[in-house]
Formats: sequence, C-alpha cells, structure tokens
Amino acid sequence: MRVLLTGHKGYLGTVMAPVLAAEGHEVIGLDSGLFDDCVLGLLPGDPPGHRVDLRDVGPEHVSGIDAVIHLAALSNDPLGALAPQLTYDINHHAAVRLAELARAAGVSRFLYASTCSVYGASGGAGLVDEDAPLRPVTPYAESKVKVEGDVGAMADDDFTPVFMRNATAFGYSPRLRADIVLNNLVGHAVLSGEVLVLSDGTPWRPLVHAVDIARAFAAALAAPREAVHNRAFNIGTERNNVTVAEIAEQVVEAVPGARLRITGEAGADPRSYRVDFSRFREAVPGFDCQWSVKDGAVELVEAYQRFALTSEDFARRFTRLAWLRDRMDDGTVDDTLRGQ
Ligand SMILES: NC(=O)c1ccc[n+]([C@@H]2O[C@H](COP(=O)([O-])OP(=O)(O)OC[C@H]3O[C@@H](n4cnc5c(N)ncnc54)[C@H](O)[C@@H]3O)[C@@H](O)[C@H]2O)c1
Repeated sequence: MRVLLTGHKGYLGTVMAPVLAAEGHEVIGLDSGLFDDCVLGLLPGDPPGHRVDLRDVGPEHVSGIDAVIHLAALSNDPLGALAPQLTYDINHHAAVRLAELARAAGVSRFLYASTCSVYGASGGAGLVDEDAPLRPVTPYAESKVKVEGDVGAMADDDFTPVFMRNATAFGYSPRLRADIVLNNLVGHAVLSGEVLVLSDGTPWRPLVHAVDIARAFAAALAAPREAVHNRAFNIGTERNNVTVAEIAEQVVEAVPGARLRITGEAGADPRSYRVDFSRFREAVPGFDCQWSVKDGAVELVEAYQRFALTSEDFARRFTRLAWLRDRMDDGTVDDTLRGQ
C-alpha cells in the first residue's frame, strides 16, 4: 500500500516507518518537523515526506494514498496544558479535516493514534476494555475522544477508520522522548543514580514498547476490513499493566547501583487504569506484544550510555514541553506552534 504516515518525524513515527517499509508498504511522511533535532544516536533515515503543518493539509497530500496512519499531534497531557486551544485545533479539528480529505480522496483505511488516556482516572479495580466509560481528564485526552467520535461517524463501505488506543509507550527511538514514564525514570537513574518517583507510586500505568505499537499498526493495516472496521482497540499487553512503583523497581534492577526514592506525595497526574487488551488479539489472530518493561529498561540503559545522554538534553531536548517552550523563546516556533 501507499501509506501516508503523519508524525513520521516523531518518537513513534521514526520507529514505525521502517516497520511499515519492511512489510512492503511505500511510506510517505507528513510532519511539520517540530522535533527534527531531538535525536539521540543514529537516525535510520526518514522516508520521503511533506514538510507541512497539519492545519494546512490539502487534497494533494492524500491523493493516490491507500491508507493514512495519523500520528501527528501535540502528544501528551502537559503539552495540551501548554495551549489547550492549540491542542483542539491540531489534535481535534485538523485530524478530522485530514480524515475528511482522505475519505474524499478514496483512502480506504484510516488508522488513528488514540490513547488509553481516554479512560482517565478509572481506578485499579478490574480491567477496562474498549466499552468502558471514557473519562478524559486533560485537553489532550479530550481531543482524542472527540476525534474518535467525529471520524467514527464518517465510516462507510469505502472508508474504514480504526482507533488504536495505545498504552503509554516506552523504549528507544532515535527521536527520543524522555517525558514518558519508563524512558524518564531510566534517564534520571542513569544520570543521577536515583530512581525518583514523584508520587506514592500507586497509579496504574499500562506500558507498551514503541516497536510493538508499530507492529500493531502494521497488523491493523493488513487485517481484513470486517475485523477492524470502525472499531477501537486497546494496544498493549496485560503483562505490562504495572504500577509506577513496579516500573521503578524494574529500573532499579536495570541500572547498577541505583537507589529507589518514592516521595509519597499525591501525584500531579490523576490517571490510573488497568487495561484489557484482548480485543485486538482476537481481531488480529497471531498478534501479541513482544517487549517486557524489564527488557525495555535494559535497552534504554544501553542506549543512553552508548549515545552519552546528557542531563541538559534529558531535561530540554528530549522533553517535548521544554523543547517547544525553548523554541518559542528563541523564535524558531511561533505562538501557534508553526515553524518560522
Ligand atoms: N508516546 C506515547 O506514549 C503515546 C501513547 C498513546 C498515544 N500516542 C499518540 O501517538 C502519536 C505519536 O506520539 P509520539 O510519542 O510519537 O509523539 P511526538 O511528539 O514524538 O511526535 C509527534 C509528531 O507530530 C508532529 N506534529 C505535531 N504537531 C504538528 C502539526 N501541527 N503539523 C504537523 N506535524 C505536527 C511533530 O513534529 C512530531 O514529529 C500522538 O498522536 C500521540 O498522542 C503516543
């Protein structure tokens, strides 16, 4: 298939593009390049792509495309808090417009990167499946819920949207993010010798490796239409339904000599949910996640050491919110988050 991959120069997109290419797809990227320079290690080389803001996408970008994978977004809760209206403009309105353009151009499949954050503070009692009530607690999660609703309403015989509700990602990507929980805890431990949990560690935070997300999207592209048509799927594995304290313990084991410090205060992030991931396994027989939290922690330690991660880059370059604030301060990104 000719696949338009938005957000191909982000953390997940940089890992997903080669996975799709290895499946034989022709990948065309689309990204405004906000994090072009946020690289740790060796970039495999980006696929050809459009350097364009999502808000400016036109019919020419979807012409001749068979499937769209839509990753581009302001990608986490703190970014949403930076600019809630921009989050709705980019994550909601521009995404719905992209889907409308894709449908009008005859694109048959539209895979949307949603999130388990849509479940919000669902608590630890029992597993939430895709039919659980959606309780988004941030503009970011709210924008994902709105896209699912609006794009779901466009489904018809020729247009198949699929909503991939990813758990929180982890693992090495050359376009690193250090602001997601495992990547963050490992980085802090490697740099300071301390595994620092700024809460009581009790919230549930299901995790999934970036490569497993990429494999799941590739599987959803290849799946028969009736198996995935206009359905939402949690993407991850019950084996990685872990509390923040359990994640921290894996980091202590992976970083020789690291000490664990759990501050015990009420965390700033109210999300807590344990997730049932069986629907996707049933829809796409043969698919399962391969990466454990433990293996991901070991992989990250190795990458951070090999590529000599610095404290400065950890805190600024690889932290999405800090990086964008710095770019706004130096004028390379304007206050609508468009490049200059
Ligand atoms: N990483 C996770 O833990 C996780 C979990 C669940 C869902 N997701 C979703 O997966 C997607 C990708 O996440 P990621 O971790 O790779 O994020 P990321 O921030 O690394 O990448 C997002 C990409 O989108 C691009 N982008 C942002 N605004 C744009 C705009 N206006 N126009 C064009 N391009 C724009 C950025 O330049 C960047 O390359 C997002 O939709 C995110 O919400 C991520």
